[in-house]
Amino acid sequence: MAPAPLPRPLLHPQALSRRSAVEPFIVMDVMEHAARIEAQGSHVIHLEVGQPAAPAPTVARRAAAAALEAGQVGYTAALGIPALRARIARHYGETHGVAVDPERIVVTHGSSGGFVLAFLALFEPGDRVAIAAPGYPPYRHVLSALGCEPVLIETRAEDRHALTPERLLEAHRAAPLKGVLVASPANPTGTMMDRAALTALHACARDLGLAFVSDEIYHGLDYAFPAVSAVEIGEDVTVINSFSKYFCMTGWRVGWMVVPPGVSRTMERLQQNLSISVPTLSQIAADAAFEGRAEMDLVKATYVENRRILTEGLPRAGLSRFLPADGAFYLYADVSDFTDDSAAFARRMLDAVHVATTPGVDFDPFHGRSFLRFSYAGSAPDMAEAVARIGDFLKRG
Ligand SMILES: Cc1ncc(COP(=O)(O)O)c(C=O)c1O
Repeated sequence: MAPAPLPRPLLHPQALSRRSAVEPFIVMDVMEHAARIEAQGSHVIHLEVGQPAAPAPTVARRAAAAALEAGQVGYTAALGIPALRARIARHYGETHGVAVDPERIVVTHGSSGGFVLAFLALFEPGDRVAIAAPGYPPYRHVLSALGCEPVLIETRAEDRHALTPERLLEAHRAAPLKGVLVASPANPTGTMMDRAALTALHACARDLGLAFVSDEIYHGLDYAFPAVSAVEIGEDVTVINSFSKYFCMTGWRVGWMVVPPGVSRTMERLQQNLSISVPTLSQIAADAAFEGRAEMDLVKATYVENRRILTEGLPRAGLSRFLPADGAFYLYADVSDFTDDSAAFARRMLDAVHVATTPGVDFDPFHGRSFLRFSYAGSAPDMAEAVARIGDFLKRG
């Protein structure tokens, strides 16, 4: 007699891990709502999406197409194609005047892949890691999913919304930290840390024995002053970067890390086991992308113009309280004169004048209800039209 079939295991919600219960990205809900409005034939202006409209550099796309044609798409070394690692290392000499050993470069699945590798390598479950509020939501969600404790530190406008040694020390005294993560230029604020601020924070972290992680994904998109890399400040840092933003390669899923000397082997073992290697065509394209900087600088010039249109136009429209838009392609505006519920306000604005923005609650559980993030990665005509529509919306009340 045939054995009775085994009962099919039911995937009961209670069977899922607690750490997998991370928050969604609220901006995705805004995008979905915008898509519904567009499906009815209206033109929505997208100031919610943090991704360049321009394609990857032409040289990068050609290199990937040639490699595809030649069929060169096997696995690569876990740490990345050696030529790409060497090219990234050379970039630090060219852009920051620092010699970086290619051995310290780890090619990753965008900076998102870098976070997972870095957090796994640096932190144990239960470790407390300081991050700024407001800040990029996946920092806290990925740390939580890995069993670490994100410690959100409220930042102040007078510090350009960056962490300071004083606030770091205070959090460490409350309960010992294991690491700190900084971002400059930052998302959502668009603010940057100057050399003195970054150096002081790094010195404080070093004195406390904390791992120092620097998300430099928006490097290359700096307007107020040249962005300083943590690599310039010390070798005991983990820098996370990406081809997604300056090089307009979001969907290629390729980024990199610079890790302290001697740490690459740990990253290599993690990457081997987690994903084997980063997509080969993307790595080939990324290597070529460095030769496409002139084309990317033209794209950057469009952000400069968009930034001008918004920083001059929004105050005329009625929104004059925003942080200095130093870099990236974001402007973070205080809308507390109009609402204490930025999510509802963003939705009303989207419904009324078809301008999509991201409510601050995505980024900041403390004060996010008073803020909206505007992305100026789109086109100049869209920025001008957005200013006019926002003016209309605010006048209507
Ligand atoms: C601050 C910041 N870090 C990291 C990322 C992740 O980018 P990617 O994984 O495409 O490199 C983003 C994306 O918007 C971001 O804004």
